[in-house]
Amino acid sequence: MTTHNSERVSVSLGGCDPATLAREFGTPLVVIDEMCLRSRMRRFREAFIRPGWASSVTYAGKALLLAAIARIAHEEGLAVDVCSLGELRTAALGGVPADRCIVHGCFKTPDELEAAVKASVRHVVVDHAAEIDDLDRLARANGVTCDVLLRVNPSITAYTHELVQTSAPASKFGFAISDGQALAAVRKVSAKKNLHLSGIHCHLGSQIYDLRSYARAVDSLVDFAKAAFDDSGAAFSIVDVGGGLAAGDGADSDDPTPEAWASAIFDAFERRLAGTPLQRPHVYVEPGRALIAQAGTTLYRIGVRKRLPDGAQALIVDGGMSDNPRPALYEARYSVCIADRPDARPDGSYVIFGRHCETDRLFPDAALPDPQPGDLLVVRDTGAYTYSMASNYNRFVRPAVVIVDNGRARLAAARETLDRVLALDVTESPT
Ligand code: LLP
Repeated sequence: MTTHNSERVSVSLGGCDPATLAREFGTPLVVIDEMCLRSRMRRFREAFIRPGWASSVTYAGKALLLAAIARIAHEEGLAVDVCSLGELRTAALGGVPADRCIVHGCFKTPDELEAAVKASVRHVVVDHAAEIDDLDRLARANGVTCDVLLRVNPSITAYTHELVQTSAPASKFGFAISDGQALAAVRKVSAKKNLHLSGIHCHLGSQIYDLRSYARAVDSLVDFAKAAFDDSGAAFSIVDVGGGLAAGDGADSDDPTPEAWASAIFDAFERRLAGTPLQRPHVYVEPGRALIAQAGTTLYRIGVRKRLPDGAQALIVDGGMSDNPRPALYEARYSVCIADRPDARPDGSYVIFGRHCETDRLFPDAALPDPQPGDLLVVRDTGAYTYSMASNYNRFVRPAVVIVDNGRARLAAARETLDRVLALDVTESPT
């Protein structure tokens, strides 16, 4: 990521100079390194190739879905997990065929269900009982059979931030296994003429470092598959273990590798399936963050430097929680440097704030070399859940996203314009 030219060292993003990118596209700017993204996707696909097993890797688009990103995922052989009509349409815009899309959501609107059925997506992941009836009715009305995975909740509290645990006993997602709701759902789907039950799905949560959580999930899923088989003869050809593999949480963390993740999952299946009458299922995983976090970098311009009453040295940058709400929401950590002197010796620790009208502390203790207004701040590993969670808070516009590769940069999303934001306002006074 750093290049040495005649006398100084500077950051390089996909062969592009950050200062040039900032001049051309403005700041804040989200920069996606295409080679990094593609190689992560390939590495995950390869990690899940195991003799004797069928497997698929799906990109969880919620981490960052733009047409250009969806296209890359498709070209790399990944299916795309979408969780809204917006994501489904974005995947289509990126040339992803509907039968490579898996539709999620804990409360899909009638429009979303209908779009999924009409497009003949690969699977709809059903999340609650009424949805089974709705989906069957829509499939019948459209003269199709809709392929279904059932999302189950095995009540596993993965060791991660409470806000990103999605299979804990208090989670809203899926059918509880513990009290028989999941078994009842299997019976219910199996009885529907226009639904085909391919299998089950569970997603433990996000930013999971401890791979034993996945072994526990597989144990629960296999035990549930066995119970369903005993109960109604249901046979699941697919078991989707979800995503959630940790990646890019600051400089000092050790991310689990895709290979270790795959081994944890396959080993658990082998162990738990032994001695059961069940066939090996087609194993699905659907990581988001682990594929795209490290491919992303955000560039900010430093605008203000001041000393706070407590003595801290503060910097204020030209973005903030509207382009990256993760520090405010999850106390997420990032590593930062100055674009034209990433390796210069820091002269102290700086608290970096965004420019929103609240605390908006982005990076609490960045060691930087005498940063000054006008410097370009480089924030690593921001590909996941930043732009996709961006807002117009304080009527800021959303940043641009560029994809860089081999010294070239192309826009993946234009910077939002203030005119577009203001155009939504209704200005006529009531009569
Ligand atoms: N599958 C399902 C059904 C999901 O709900 C999610 C994430 C994923 C896969 C992908 O999880 P990943 O591999 O990216 O961890 N906004 C939070 C993360 C929320 C994740 C929601 N679901 C954050 O910024 O950390």
